[in-house]
Amino acid sequence: MSFFPIDPAPARLNRSELAVPGSQPNMFEKAAQSDADVVFLDLEDAVAPDEKPQARKNIIKALNELDWGKKTMSLRINGLDTHYMYRDVVDVVEQAGERLDLIMIPKVGTAADVYAVDMLVTQIEDAKGYKKRIGFEHIIETALGMQNINEIAAASKRNESLHFGVADYAASTRARTTVIGGVNEHYSVLTDKLADGSRQVHWGDMWHYALSRMVVAARANGLRPVDGPFGDFSDPDGYKAAAYRAAVLGCEGKWAIHPSQIALANEVMSPSAAEVERAQRILDAMAKAEAEGKGAVSLDGRLIDYASIRQAEVLVAKARQIAA
Ligand code: GLV
Ligand code: MG
Repeated sequence: MSFFPIDPAPARLNRSELAVPGSQPNMFEKAAQSDADVVFLDLEDAVAPDEKPQARKNIIKALNELDWGKKTMSLRINGLDTHYMYRDVVDVVEQAGERLDLIMIPKVGTAADVYAVDMLVTQIEDAKGYKKRIGFEHIIETALGMQNINEIAAASKRNESLHFGVADYAASTRARTTVIGGVNEHYSVLTDKLADGSRQVHWGDMWHYALSRMVVAARANGLRPVDGPFGDFSDPDGYKAAAYRAAVLGCEGKWAIHPSQIALANEVMSPSAAEVERAQRILDAMAKAEAEGKGAVSLDGRLIDYASIRQAEVLVAKARQIAA
């Protein structure tokens, strides 16, 4: 390992993150009773400009009065380029800051954006005498945010997670798509002629680079990488495929923009019993190898070594966290 220390963000389950518009209080009760690990109450893109003041009030009331159980509660504020943002922070943190765990900053573009919100939140927390510090989640969803992702990820001790906001990212980069997440038939390769003379189209994942870059920036700073929305809530198979490819790259969770996506995210983002069992067998085999003075052995015909221990420990620790 490098001599450079990486402090991990507070350990929280973040397999599913449910988006709930602050202007729809009729949805709050169901969200509170859902199996989502994190709920973010939205003041940004799901709320029309005229509804923002009322949405703030709804959220303050709901944070104070509803029983959200052990859920991690987040607030998506408006962007720093709008005049809504200061009131989102001041009103909600002043009036309901004790039940708020996280603030989600959309369209974050530079480390200075993070600094600005940090300063505001710090003043409110100090003035109110709150003991708990609110953490930050950042949505990487602009070209600027992606360009400055490393500085953003390191910009505050409050930082906990980075989220890939695929819809705004597509708009910002002028990607040729109008759906939220998912695949695009034109992001593909056409094979040369195969033995039978046919050619095949292989669809690719147009978000691979962005998602991978975000995973690296998050992990290098001890943060959780979380994949964002998948808009077609009538396509559970498409959602699961998108979630799996994010999980395989190292993401810890995925947004649910519809309650039906919560169980899918929790399923995909939890290691399966078979994965945990194999990880435990690797740990057992390596413990035995170590006792015999060996650093690498074979298990089921494959090489395992000290790196395998680290991979297996990640899986087993995650399974324990979920069980707890
Ligand atoms: C989320 O905010 C997105 O733009 O995808
Ligand atoms: Mg967005």
